[in-house]
Amino acid sequence: MSRTDKWNQRYAGKGDKLPELPAVISDQLATLPKGRTLDLACGDGAAALQLAGLGHDVVAVDFAEQGILRMRQFAESQGLNIDGRVADLQNIQSLDGLGQFDNIVICRYKPEPDLIEALSELMCIGGSLFISTFNKLHHQRSGFRSELCLASGQYLETFSDFQLEFYQDGVPNNSNLDIYLFKRLF
Ligand SMILES: C[S@@+](CC[C@H](N)C(=O)[O-])C[C@H]1O[C@@H](n2cnc3c(N)ncnc32)[C@H](O)[C@@H]1O
Repeated sequence: MSRTDKWNQRYAGKGDKLPELPAVISDQLATLPKGRTLDLACGDGAAALQLAGLGHDVVAVDFAEQGILRMRQFAESQGLNIDGRVADLQNIQSLDGLGQFDNIVICRYKPEPDLIEALSELMCIGGSLFISTFNKLHHQRSGFRSELCLASGQYLETFSDFQLEFYQDGVPNNSNLDIYLFKRLF
């Protein structure tokens, strides 16, 4: 079964339960300045729905069509408008034409180097980049693939066009998520 099929199957079997975010993520998302916001690997919209509810103009991308469908249904039932797109983030060209964003958020997904390189182009100068994904504690606790987990401080030197605004290493806090917030400088 392909990775897309696996995620589609997971979302198709989730029932009516609204997707939820851990508080460490939703608290940080609440601090982002309202604007045009891109949610990459959005799943069924846990972050996109929160951000749209806060007044962001959200474009949300995932390769799992079933996730996008669920997100659209939740958005509609809450009277929210989210532009959901089905696209594979391993094919960077699939993001062409989206324009630039005031905020980009990536939650519980580890971006590949190609995607990291493309982020500057997608981001307005002065915009915010929020990334929170799994660390080694998650691998130790759940067996989740270690190559998809962040090492401590992994992104501290990765984003040359961005200034670090906030970093939280989850491990000392007994959390399986690391958090980075950057601002695009130029
Ligand atoms: C752990 S879920 C996180 C979903 C959401 N960001 C959240 O925090 O609730 C990971 C998501 O990444 C998506 N994904 C994995 N590989 C992808 C790819 N190459 N392109 C687009 N989406 C992908 C999956 O479909 C899934 O929705």
